[in-house]
Amino acid sequence: MRIFLDTANIDQIKKGVKLGVVSGVTTNPTLVAKEGHKDYEAVVKEICSIVNGPVSAEVVVNDKEAMLAQARKIATWASNVVVKIPSTADGLEVISQLARENIRVNMTLCFSVNQALLGALAGATYVSPFVGRLDDAGHDGMALVKDIVDVFKQYEYLTTEVLAASIRHPLHCVAAAKAGAHIATIPYKVLLQMTKHPLTDVGIERFLADWESVSENK
Ligand code: E4P
Repeated sequence: MRIFLDTANIDQIKKGVKLGVVSGVTTNPTLVAKEGHKDYEAVVKEICSIVNGPVSAEVVVNDKEAMLAQARKIATWASNVVVKIPSTADGLEVISQLARENIRVNMTLCFSVNQALLGALAGATYVSPFVGRLDDAGHDGMALVKDIVDVFKQYEYLTTEVLAASIRHPLHCVAAAKAGAHIATIPYKVLLQMTKHPLTDVGIERFLADWESVSENK
């Protein structure tokens, strides 16, 4: 399973990329607004220049024609940009048109196997089931990821990748990997949490202390 960072924070993206484990970024209007970025195009271009991999940028309109026009525009911002389109009937129409124009799409706000299947048939490069938001609503978000993976596996012609999104904690990452998600997009905080284990810290301390005690005896 590959790891994308789910943020519009430039500093976090730079730090994540340095670790050598981040192969893409996803943003959404909330994440961009949270960072106080005023120039959407400029920030997406900057992220695309930092990351050697797909960067998802969402359309911020809901009308079919407007989504199509905005998606085409976003697609010109960088060669590694992927346009996020919501999982709706209008969205499907937009996705299938964009697919015909070889514009890569991440179908976002996916909450059912049916939506994922339709997104794949329309030609989305990624579908993003929102795990945490389903959990919040009392459903099993990770079961949806597993179901989508299982369905896609049964049909060779479904080449769409499953991007587990709305990841809230390290256990979600383990579960997404076990479920067979191609990618998990995670907040920077979760990436750091994934690196940690108390026994690693205790082990380092003990190794260094033992080393020092021998050095002192010399
Ligand atoms: C993914 O592409 C979305 O930006 C994101 O994962 C949503 O996460 P949230 O439910 O924590 O807002």
